Amino acid sequence: MKNNTYEIPAALKAAAKEAYGKAYAPYSQFHVGSAALTTQGNIVQGCNVENASYGLTICAERNCIGHAVANGEQSFQMIVIYTEQDKLTPPCGACRQVIAEFFEQSAPVIAINHKDEQQVWTVAQLLPDAFTPKDLLEL
Ligand code: THU
Repeated sequence: MKNNTYEIPAALKAAAKEAYGKAYAPYSQFHVGSAALTTQGNIVQGCNVENASYGLTICAERNCIGHAVANGEQSFQMIVIYTEQDKLTPPCGACRQVIAEFFEQSAPVIAINHKDEQQVWTVAQLLPDAFTPKDLLEL
């Protein structure tokens, strides 16, 4: 599902862009906003939060998912990643693992930018044969 035509709800795009404006990225200057649509139809937001101890940085996508879980939601329809880069920003490896924990294999992960370009992947495309709850729990 790598294409340029996926229909993203306007409110979800707007939420990712709004979250981008809240990013804390004084070291990389690479701001990222994320928004996810939960199975219940709610929108949750996240941004990257860097730290003077660089390795403690949390990416926008993991922040978004953590935010949702803290608000009582653990399943999602899709997640959007917004940057103001000419290149579309794919989720890092750590975020792919966390996305795989909570999203269906077929769920869309969508990178968008300020030029309204988009790239869509499924969770399975981003992390094939992922280690997930099914490998630990009786699911
Ligand atoms: N970053 C994200 O927030 N999400 C991604 O998908 C890629 C990377 C952040 C982490 C760090 O604050 C900055 O972008 C540069 O790596």
